[in-house]
Amino acid sequence: MRVYQFRHPSKNVLRHLKLLTAPPEVVYISRLDMKKKKTYPGFFLVFEGGEGCGKSTQLRKLAQALARQSLPALLTREPGGTPLGKGIRKLLLHAKHEVSPEAELFLYEADRAHHVESVVRPALARGQVVISDRHADSTAVYQGMARGMRFADTLNRIATSGLQPDLVIILDVPPEVGLARVRGRGTPDRLEREKMAFHKKVRKGFLALAKKNSRRYKVFDGTRDPEDIGQEIQRLVKTRLERKGLWPRH
Ligand SMILES: Nc1ncnc2c1ncn2[C@@H]1O[C@H](COP(=O)(O)OP(=O)(O)OP(=O)(O)O)[C@@H](O)[C@H]1O
Ligand SMILES: [Mg+2]
Repeated sequence: MRVYQFRHPSKNVLRHLKLLTAPPEVVYISRLDMKKKKTYPGFFLVFEGGEGCGKSTQLRKLAQALARQSLPALLTREPGGTPLGKGIRKLLLHAKHEVSPEAELFLYEADRAHHVESVVRPALARGQVVISDRHADSTAVYQGMARGMRFADTLNRIATSGLQPDLVIILDVPPEVGLARVRGRGTPDRLEREKMAFHKKVRKGFLALAKKNSRRYKVFDGTRDPEDIGQEIQRLVKTRLERKGLWPRH
């Protein structure tokens, strides 16, 4: 189908080419890329990693450190960073019924699309520091690499409309360690209940992402003392914020 040759197809061209028979992801990606701005004055930071690796702990520490520098950050998470997302989070993690892999993927992307559009992009456009507890890389890894869903990356691009974090901090721990940490927390959620082989693929997946892009991704050994990890993260984030003119605050 020749539709691949049109980077920016107009509505008329698409109608002419009988859009319904064209591979839809090709068309949507090019249209969304055109629509959304790629640059923004704020800073988008994401914490990623497997279960119990210390994301929430480190996110809180960093937010406190930034607040001490009069640089309040917008703290958010996926899934569940919006009222709509809170409902999706419940469906995804605490459903009593089964969730098919495809349905799981679409629910994560629905949460993400709404979150990016209504929370993340507006805050970045205002020049804020946005810190998210998980984002698109979790789907790339959990649904894409661990569950083997080929379309995870494509759907991520649609849901994020091309937005990419300035920095992704990956906390790396062996799954046995992370799961032991969260075990005492009550009923495990749907993903925490997955087999060990799944969690091992998740760990490998995050490390593979970091290897491909060492500027955007930084891996920290999450088994170390949380205070030490926190200090290192603060130093790294300070450097990156300075580079973007967001530190010190004027
Ligand atoms: N570096 C660390 N060393 C030892 N324990 C830690 C460390 N970091 C966090 N913990 C503890 O491990 C548990 C899980 O940490 P936390 O909730 O921050 O992880 P998480 O990655 O957010 O987990 P989840 O995937 O469930 O959201 C908490 O009890 C926390 O106090
Ligand atoms: Mg957490």
